[in-house]
Amino acid sequence: MSLTPASADPTPGIAGGSSVPRHVAIIMDGNGRWAKARGLPRAAGHRQGAEAARKVLRAAGEAGVECLTLYAFSSENWRRPEEEINDLMGLLRLYIAKELGTLHKEGIRLKIIGDHTAFEPGTARKVDEAVARTATNSRMTLAIALNYGSRNELVNAARSLAQRVAGGEMEAQAIDEAAIEAALDTADLPPLDLLIRTSGERRLSNFLLWQAAYAELLFVDTLWPDFDGDALRLAIADFGNRERRYGGL
Ligand code: IPE
Ligand code: IPE
Ligand code: MG
Repeated sequence: MSLTPASADPTPGIAGGSSVPRHVAIIMDGNGRWAKARGLPRAAGHRQGAEAARKVLRAAGEAGVECLTLYAFSSENWRRPEEEINDLMGLLRLYIAKELGTLHKEGIRLKIIGDHTAFEPGTARKVDEAVARTATNSRMTLAIALNYGSRNELVNAARSLAQRVAGGEMEAQAIDEAAIEAALDTADLPPLDLLIRTSGERRLSNFLLWQAAYAELLFVDTLWPDFDGDALRLAIADFGNRERRYGGL
């Protein structure tokens, strides 16, 4: 790990922040309540939420975060009314259409965790195209969790390891933490350092359960559409002031 001298601190004016998290994940919650407070349809909250995602991605890149993972659609979000699901899919397509050029120009690799192949074919194809177009970018990774559930991810990992054992490729004894990590959707991402949830809810909602084992958790009351670059910089500064002990002293 490199130590950044104070003069090179990318967040001048904010106390602390001496160490920048390599991997930040966000449970982007509160779009519906943001819209309701304004007498707007929930879709308006999701639209504003997409704007917040844009701002936060930029701020994360400027701060030197290597990977930003955004929870956009959980495997439980299928329980929502069809109209809202359609709105969210439409927004995803719009986000890709509007942002793909910028992502690519900025050297950002798009990665998907979860199973977006369950989305309707037109949407799934747009996602695949965006992933393919940015695959060799290496300045930063934007991981979007789509139809993602952590328990399902762990089930898939268990299944793929079991198949390798059954096929004689691997000994059961060789299944260790590293083998499980390598079988998760997040295998090629840096360790999760900071997990943020907006909107005042204090639960993980099936997000990155394994990966969060030693992540720093930050729960903020801000509704996601109101979260912005300054809010992210404050979160990074808060992270910089934490002492991570990993069970030691
Ligand atoms: C988060 O905002 C966006 C998604 C889950 C897709 P919500 O839609 O959950 O907003 P609230 O929690 O109802 O305010
Ligand atoms: C978590 O938010 C999922 C996303 C942000 C995509 P939810 O709003 O779906 O979570 P619960 O239902 O309040 O736990
Ligand atoms: Mg919610």
